[in-house]
Amino acid sequence: MVTADGIEGARELDPEALSALIADPEPATTHALAAEADRVMRREVGDTVYLRGLVEFSNHCRLDCYYCGIRRSNTAVKRYRLTRQEVVDAARHCAEAGFGSLTLQSGERRDEEFVRFVCDLVREVKEATRGPDLPDGLGITLSVGEQSLHTYERFRAEGAHRYLLRIESSSPALFARLHPAAQRFEERRAALRRVRNAGFQVGTGVMIGLPGQTAADLAEDIRFFAAEDIDMIGMGPYIPHAHTPMGAGTGLDATGRTRLLDMSLRMVALTRIALRDVNIAATTALQALAPLGRERALRAGANVLMPIVTPQAVRASYRLYDGKPCTDEDANECGTCTAARAARTGRPVGVNVWGDAPHARRRLQHTAARGAGSGAADE
Ligand code: 5AD
Repeated sequence: MVTADGIEGARELDPEALSALIADPEPATTHALAAEADRVMRREVGDTVYLRGLVEFSNHCRLDCYYCGIRRSNTAVKRYRLTRQEVVDAARHCAEAGFGSLTLQSGERRDEEFVRFVCDLVREVKEATRGPDLPDGLGITLSVGEQSLHTYERFRAEGAHRYLLRIESSSPALFARLHPAAQRFEERRAALRRVRNAGFQVGTGVMIGLPGQTAADLAEDIRFFAAEDIDMIGMGPYIPHAHTPMGAGTGLDATGRTRLLDMSLRMVALTRIALRDVNIAATTALQALAPLGRERALRAGANVLMPIVTPQAVRASYRLYDGKPCTDEDANECGTCTAARAARTGRPVGVNVWGDAPHARRRLQHTAARGAGSGAADE
């Protein structure tokens, strides 16, 4: 049950209040939290839904995360990399559709050829999308993993201004069970801090419903977002992939799917209530649990949708989990469908705007004021 004390506790990041609400499976609880989150969203960031076209430009990956379908050891995956032209075409499509922002995502590589390729993509997308409607071109978000501060600075210098790097779980013990020993929690968190020091707006997130994950772990995830002063959150349910160590032989029945979707919605709502002025994405994985999963997140405090604009021919090769939606569609259909999804919630859709989170604007203004002349960016 949601009480005024419970909401107040969540607002103050009280671990017990958060975990009690996360663990409460009553539909009335999910409903009440969504309603409160919707109020907070309207007051703090407005009711506009912002769109970011998502280009999954390569599935080559040096990492071997135990949950992920494109992990290095999955030899069943056909590896691909889009050409610069293909990425620029997808970006133009987004600009013409009025999306305002683009997210470039891939598996993780750190070699110079890859870093240069990403720099080229950012520069060319910017050049190709500047125009009367978008004087600064599309807003560009990168999601290409853990890199050095120097690399992050190079990406930033080319004009990308937001970066997504999920912590996956803020529990070091759980993180260790999800990844080979060489992938360390402390290193992921350090990379997240480098992203911020390079001058990016910072996005992170977690998976919900991981084996062994408790409500207390999820409460800590929300406290982690606050402690790291995060600007953007993308969270979704963990969904098994059959060709991974964690996913083999597992699956969810209908009841399990409903429970997981509801818990994910409570996480979205509580994150909005606790963090207030951030951007929160209604992620694709929610739609793997229910056809209207993303819409429900938009009604529970989320304000960002990321239509997939990856060319149809390679979509099936970017399957992070089984049953990933939208793999049969092409960019046009995803654009139309996403706009329809946003419209169905009765909210305005941001057209030709970047849609940065007020939190990021406040944080960066603050940093600029404090860091003037002190070389704070060199940290
Ligand atoms: N289920 C849900 N999300 C997944 N991701 C990777 N594998 C899965 C899975 N099996 C998410 C991770 C990653 C993001 C790009 O996709 O959180 O950061």
